[in-house]
Amino acid sequence: MLIKDKVALVTGGAAGIGRTIAIVFAKEGAKVIVTDCNDEEGKKTVEMINDAGGQAIYRHLDVTHPENHEAVVAAACEEFGRLDIACNNAGISGEFRLTAEHTPETWQQVIDINLTGVFYGVRAQIPAMLNNGGGSIVNIASILGQVGLEEISPYVAAKHGVVGLTKNVALEYGSKGIRCNSVGPAFIKTTLVNNLPKDVRSQLESMHALGRMGETEEVANLAAWLSSDRASFITGNYYAVDGGYLSR
Ligand code: NAI
Repeated sequence: MLIKDKVALVTGGAAGIGRTIAIVFAKEGAKVIVTDCNDEEGKKTVEMINDAGGQAIYRHLDVTHPENHEAVVAAACEEFGRLDIACNNAGISGEFRLTAEHTPETWQQVIDINLTGVFYGVRAQIPAMLNNGGGSIVNIASILGQVGLEEISPYVAAKHGVVGLTKNVALEYGSKGIRCNSVGPAFIKTTLVNNLPKDVRSQLESMHALGRMGETEEVANLAAWLSSDRASFITGNYYAVDGGYLSR
């Protein structure tokens, strides 16, 4: 087991990649605090983990509320004694529009959730990890943290921001035992992607060197490995899990 007996917090754990990260963290031995703003589905993730013999609790967390982050970190310390690992995963795609057609509102919503939400996360997680002599943070960025894609400027800007924020956390807290890395998935088979018309899916598949989209487990496996002591000399980096998408 990669992260046996570690205490791990996951944001956006009610669906898609975040749900799988929570499940894989538990399979790899961690006690998991599953968080989301969708309480019903978040609790289902916890049931799935506990039914499979893992250990998890659910707490409500809207990533745009700094006090929610502080509360879930406090819950981790109360329930499980400390916080070793955090995976800041919650995110939305936002609306697809050309840059000049985005409004202050469509811009701000994506920045608030995808970038400021990660800042509020690390801001609450770092002090708890410092109390404990260190820890590991994995921020879920995107291939769009490295390159652009038409009609999705707020998302591209937010994900580039996550990659930069990750580097700064690594620089500032590395000597105190905290590692921080970002993971950049390409197109992953979550509900949104699975519901696209077949021809759009085929086109997306062909953009990956491997000729297919990714599975949520393929992202979760990397997040678990980066969170583990096997990655003890790795910090500040961006890791694509993209089936060769960025090789073009
Ligand atoms: P999803 O839509 O399946 O799940 C996202 C989860 O985040 C949901 O449970 C949702 O309730 C939660 N969430 C949304 N807003 C929230 C908020 N304000 N506070 C707390 N939770 C909130 O999305 P998916 O695909 O699993 O994405 C997860 C992460 O992976 C996101 O950061 C996304 O940008 C990133 N990503 C996804 C890719 C994909 O192809 N699915 C590709 C690259 C990156």
